[in-house]
Amino acid sequence: MLDIKAIRNDFPILDEKVNGKPLVYFDNAATAQKPQVVIDAIAEYYETINANIHRGVHTLSQLATDAYEIARKKVQHHINAKEDREVIFTAGTTFGINLVASGFARLLKEGDEVLISAMEHHSNIVPWQFACEQSGATLKVIPMNEKGELVMEEFDKLINEKTKIVAVTHISNALGTINPIKRIIDKAHEYGAAVLIDGAQATPHVKPDMQALDCDFYVFSAHKICGPTGTGVLYGKEEWLNKLPPYQGGGEMIKTVTFDKTTFACLPHKFEAGTPNIAGGIVLGCAIDYLNSVGFDNIVAYEQELLDYGTKRLLEIEGLKIYGTSDDKASVISFNIEGIHPYDIGVIVDKLGVAVRTGHHCTQPIMDFYGIPGTVRASFSFYNTKEEIDTLVEAVKKAKSMLS
Ligand code: ALA
Repeated sequence: MLDIKAIRNDFPILDEKVNGKPLVYFDNAATAQKPQVVIDAIAEYYETINANIHRGVHTLSQLATDAYEIARKKVQHHINAKEDREVIFTAGTTFGINLVASGFARLLKEGDEVLISAMEHHSNIVPWQFACEQSGATLKVIPMNEKGELVMEEFDKLINEKTKIVAVTHISNALGTINPIKRIIDKAHEYGAAVLIDGAQATPHVKPDMQALDCDFYVFSAHKICGPTGTGVLYGKEEWLNKLPPYQGGGEMIKTVTFDKTTFACLPHKFEAGTPNIAGGIVLGCAIDYLNSVGFDNIVAYEQELLDYGTKRLLEIEGLKIYGTSDDKASVISFNIEGIHPYDIGVIVDKLGVAVRTGHHCTQPIMDFYGIPGTVRASFSFYNTKEEIDTLVEAVKKAKSMLS
């Protein structure tokens, strides 16, 4: 059981007013709010140990390096990676996918296939289009059904010896669907294909286990799990990270440099050129500690309650349709009201203090599938309450009466 009142006290922004109304923050799938310990940790880093890492012999540099490497170990343990060098700090999920896709662009050749799904975020579509254009490989897409689930029989038909990598999202940011990634990973491996899982939307809700999943790459962002923006993680199996070429050239990622030839540093440094977001990495470690202190089992159970309650309450509104009705779903509700543009609903509920996202959610192919311009998306976190859902429902009802 979660003490929601105490948890809410950890998040100063939840006391804010927006447009004169108490903030109801339901845009958690875009970015999560930050607890005070995370906010304080950012200041503490700059107040006490700010220095560049892996470079200086001076004490501050060593303290900052130690803190950064401790954070890497925290991530390693959190996702149960075998080695800490399999954890690459990045600028975020998009960066991680681009890193892997640009590496594959150099490994792929004509006749090879890349398999993604119909419910990918643009971040897990466009980098693969680039990779296919550059290499001559072919992009294939696992379709989805009306409920917003992957059609696994089609996946079984699409995967074959030509498939070199399968890149799919763990949880859909637009629909909330939790995909059967273990089945996808195991099947892809039968054909010798690598698998990248986009964990941006999953990591706020589940603690992914790299060794149990056996995926080759898993990417996520700090800011969606109560950490800072501009920081993320690429997990890669050591053998794959050794096989991929470096993404960016620069300081830190080299072993030796002459004008004739450069040799590269070992993992993880090979993929961490330049001065990284040092505070971001360290504070990601604090965010992980915070979430683990709340407990992922508690988070999952409570968010499921919010999802069930929100679904039931919103469906009381006549003409409201929910997109994404899989039985296996995270706490994201995408909806429209017949005859009303989602943007208009978003603007009115914002005036009433309720923050939702409207639009295509960087998933235009999903919107095309349903033949809609976008949706209103309410995404719940463990610090939200049923009372806030009631406020959302009243705000949507008001918007409906104003716009009908
Ligand atoms: N990918 C983020 C979202 O779904 C930004 O809102």
